[in-house]
Amino acid sequence: MGKPLKALFKSEHRDDISNRSANPAFSEVADVYLSRRRLLQLGAAAGAGAAFPFLAGSGEALAAGAPRPSPLTKAVSLGFSSIPVSSADAVIVPEGYVARPFYRWGDPVGLKGNMPIFKFDASNTTDEQAAQAGMHHDGMAWFSLPQGQDNPAHGLLALNHEYIDNGMLFKDGTAGWNLDKARKGQNAMGVSVIEVKKAAGEWQVVRPSAFARRITVNTPILFTGPARHQDLLKTAADPLGERVLGTMQNCANGRTPWGTYLTCEENWSDIFVKKTALTPLETRYGISTRDASYRWSEVDPRFDVDKTPNEPNRFGWVVEIDPYDPSSTPRKHTALGRFKHEGAAVTLAADNRVVVYMGDDQKFEYIYKFVSTEKYDPDSHRASMDLLASGTLYVARFNQDGSGDWLPLVYGENGLDKAHGFDSQGDLLIKTRLAADAVGATKMDRPEWIAVDPHAGGSVYCTLTNNSDRGKEGKAPVDAANPRANNLFGHIMHWLEAGSDPAAAQFRWDILVLAGRTDGDDPKDKGSMQGAAFGSPDGLSFDHRGVLWIQTDVSSSTINQKAYAGMGNNQMVATIPGSNVYRRFLTGPRGCEITGIAFTPDNRTLFINIQHPGEGGDDITDPANPRAVSNWPDARPDGRPRSSTVVITKRDGGVIGS
Ligand code: FEO
Ligand code: CA
Ligand code: CA
Ligand code: CA
Repeated sequence: MGKPLKALFKSEHRDDISNRSANPAFSEVADVYLSRRRLLQLGAAAGAGAAFPFLAGSGEALAAGAPRPSPLTKAVSLGFSSIPVSSADAVIVPEGYVARPFYRWGDPVGLKGNMPIFKFDASNTTDEQAAQAGMHHDGMAWFSLPQGQDNPAHGLLALNHEYIDNGMLFKDGTAGWNLDKARKGQNAMGVSVIEVKKAAGEWQVVRPSAFARRITVNTPILFTGPARHQDLLKTAADPLGERVLGTMQNCANGRTPWGTYLTCEENWSDIFVKKTALTPLETRYGISTRDASYRWSEVDPRFDVDKTPNEPNRFGWVVEIDPYDPSSTPRKHTALGRFKHEGAAVTLAADNRVVVYMGDDQKFEYIYKFVSTEKYDPDSHRASMDLLASGTLYVARFNQDGSGDWLPLVYGENGLDKAHGFDSQGDLLIKTRLAADAVGATKMDRPEWIAVDPHAGGSVYCTLTNNSDRGKEGKAPVDAANPRANNLFGHIMHWLEAGSDPAAAQFRWDILVLAGRTDGDDPKDKGSMQGAAFGSPDGLSFDHRGVLWIQTDVSSSTINQKAYAGMGNNQMVATIPGSNVYRRFLTGPRGCEITGIAFTPDNRTLFINIQHPGEGGDDITDPANPRAVSNWPDARPDGRPRSSTVVITKRDGGVIGS
């Protein structure tokens, strides 16, 4: 195998800064959970409205003005057979389907006159990396071409490159560490926009393309919203607090009805280092005193908090990108709050205001929603581009009785005032987590993706991936919405907004499924699903037929735990909510997570992302650690594993999942 190839960094979240705010927690949880399940089962038997009058009609009615309902008929069953778990170094899909790696780390993005090919010894230069796919693909969305049409055979994919691994990125790892090496890493993070087209039955990346674009950690981005011009956003390089270089740690995503892409900054605090005493704000957001993974702070003073104290405040936002205009300047929308943003699920309220659901993915963090001030007007693209600049941010409280409240994070209300450390709405948004603590939001088991049912108004789902600290001494106890201590497998929440209106101030909630095993005797490891067992749900999306797709991210340390024995590599399963039947559609290569999901408008092509194949061992060629041995997708003896977009079609050209 030659010289060991060192993967230096694992994608697991630093979790040593668990939310210690003293929000109320609930007791008698098991009882509450069980009675809720009984209610749901009753509802399933008698029709949801009978057991749950509040929900009457919710399964059918779309709120007036809700986003254009899917033109495709709602699926009533899954049309494929569940595949077995796998430990193979391959992407496996059901009989009748084809999955093909399509856009790998290092593949040219397609800039005219600048299309460097990937060098398998990782010797591509810093500049070449800026014209190539970044590392560690994550969230992704589809945009048909031409703009405004639902063309299923030609479009753009915008996708995130979440993080980098210096061990993989360079021929010689971190030897001779310098600014140029840090810049190569910065060029491997951010976003790609690629043009894709189906020609003669095969999907291709169009190269060169006038739409091709890489957004990196050094791309100019403007701030909008109340935090713009706040003192905490100002730096020597940006004395007005209105312009920042770059976006990073781009995790999950969103897509707006007006055709823009939302990329979400998640583990940005991992990059920053502060050697002197941390402020309460820095502590609450996880700024650390050291960083052995990225090492940018050693050579780029922007990430050294002792030198550039406000730079961390300029990350942790949702960024809007117009994929149809490669010359456009992306914008960070401060009205949507600052935290470790996982995704941004967009829908429309009954009156056409824009609603964005967002998770803050860390142990004991919160679920948020933003409601715009202005209404969406499909005839005014220009006005739409400002919709995310102004609105109200709410945080969720899941009450023990199955009701829920959206608590507004508004300066001057509910004690969010000067006496409690908030100077203005803009200041409050920079300190979003502190404001959410103050109003008593419910601490969740790591909120990841959120998905809105396209066939039912105001019906929303959120993956809570896991939380091994739940119930531990000194940490938040179990509660009705997070009912398992040492929650190794995670669960998926469901809520229905009052009146089926996403802008409502109240909701009813339940748990769609407890993830876990379907075999074994240990009740704490049991999943509540029928069919395909899975754990650590992360990616979550409806297709156009109302099938809910779940992608898992069991981290490399968790997957080796006994509770996960025999559950195989990370995977993607499908369900139709209400059925409790889950089928396994895809299994990934070794050491990867499955993420990123985009369907073409005809539901006949599915794009997904494979992130960090080969994660899990210091030496990815070590036969003693077979779970981490991967050279997917290139299968070269000298090949390092590469994250990649995968295109999936049905051999007969049919609808995915039918
Ligand atoms: Fe980037 Fe929470 O996953
Ligand atoms: Ca991950
Ligand atoms: Ca994720
Ligand atoms: Ca995850």
